[in-house]
Amino acid sequence: MPGIRGPSDYSQEPPRHPCLKINSKEPFNAEPPRSALVSSYVTPVDLFYKRNHGPIPIVEDIERYSVTLSGLIGHPKEVFMRDIWKLPKYTVTATLQCAGNRRTAMSNTRKVRGVGWDISALGNAIWGGARLADVLELIGIPKLTSMTPSGGKHVEFVSIDKCKEEKGGPYKASIPLSQATNPVADVLLAYEMNGETLNRDHGYPLRVIVPGVIGARSVKWLDSINIIAEECQGFFMQKDYKMFPPSVDWDNINWSTRRPQMDFPVQSAICSLEDVSVVKQGKITIKGYAVSGGGRGIERVDISIDGGKTWIEASKYQKTGIPYISDDESSTDKWAWVLFEAEVNVSHSAEIVAKAVDSSANVQPENVGDIWNLRGILNTSWHRVQVRVGQSNL
Ligand code: MTE
Repeated sequence: MPGIRGPSDYSQEPPRHPCLKINSKEPFNAEPPRSALVSSYVTPVDLFYKRNHGPIPIVEDIERYSVTLSGLIGHPKEVFMRDIWKLPKYTVTATLQCAGNRRTAMSNTRKVRGVGWDISALGNAIWGGARLADVLELIGIPKLTSMTPSGGKHVEFVSIDKCKEEKGGPYKASIPLSQATNPVADVLLAYEMNGETLNRDHGYPLRVIVPGVIGARSVKWLDSINIIAEECQGFFMQKDYKMFPPSVDWDNINWSTRRPQMDFPVQSAICSLEDVSVVKQGKITIKGYAVSGGGRGIERVDISIDGGKTWIEASKYQKTGIPYISDDESSTDKWAWVLFEAEVNVSHSAEIVAKAVDSSANVQPENVGDIWNLRGILNTSWHRVQVRVGQSNL
């Protein structure tokens, strides 16, 4: 591949922040401590979760690096970084969340398969790059196209990493052409994260960012883009990241009966407390994040200190000094999480719960058992933590 290669072992991995909690070393999967998430609205790059399925690719010559655009279009085209840099640059603040976020808690009720994650398999970043819709215009696909004259209806992103699930082949995924060519969907080919050149872990030199959609579709280390008739047939679209009902297990699964997961549902979690924390009697501040998919805003975050019998409403914020108004695009970042805060009075041991409601009035489900699925994706059940009253410096 020109200018970039995917190693087949883990001897040349990049350095990582020592704070990260490693859930799997090879491939490298790690998340920050809970408290790091609520320390800032924009997650620092080194504390941003890292989700990989193979060794991290290496750029050998950025001048030679190119992305091949082909498939159901007139003529294939090779696009170099200099071509991408020439296009108008957009920045989009978007939260990326792995569909496996909070999988460990789901597995604790009934075992699921997959890398275990606490509540920090997500982060909020300012992504900078070219709009995919502008890149597709370079091969003659106009904005707001849902089908090319030769029947292309999906845009497939193919990487260069070597994944064992793909039998040593690259990671790939697709999105509908109608989303890819819609400027309002803000799909980016990003080369920057938080104002810096993307680093190796997060997809250097070029990655896709599909806002509002599970992280699995935001393909890193882009090698080619194919315009195809049906959605991508790769492992991660067809044999993973699909949600099955609780009755389906490994002996009766039929993967083709479900569609690949795209938008993520409404989610929230408390980040200022661990699963079990000791706090001093009196007032404590509960902090966390809430986020929904598809660009839906957060209408409300409810907090309970009695396991969900009674609730108070938390305050919500994105940027300091600007009130958060759900779905008001002039003042809020529609693809980004909302942080929340509530002061509660704790006089005895208690179960503290958070649940969010999005702008379409979708509410998080109460129990994890009701949404249990064998791959352990989309655990969006009420987030519960236990507090014991005692000596603490919280
Ligand atoms: N792209 C490639 N090429 N290889 C991968 O393993 N993982 C996907 C997605 N893109 C992946 C990928 C998944 S499951 C997620 S959640 C996000 O990248 C994670 O992005 P991050 O590591 O930058 O946080």
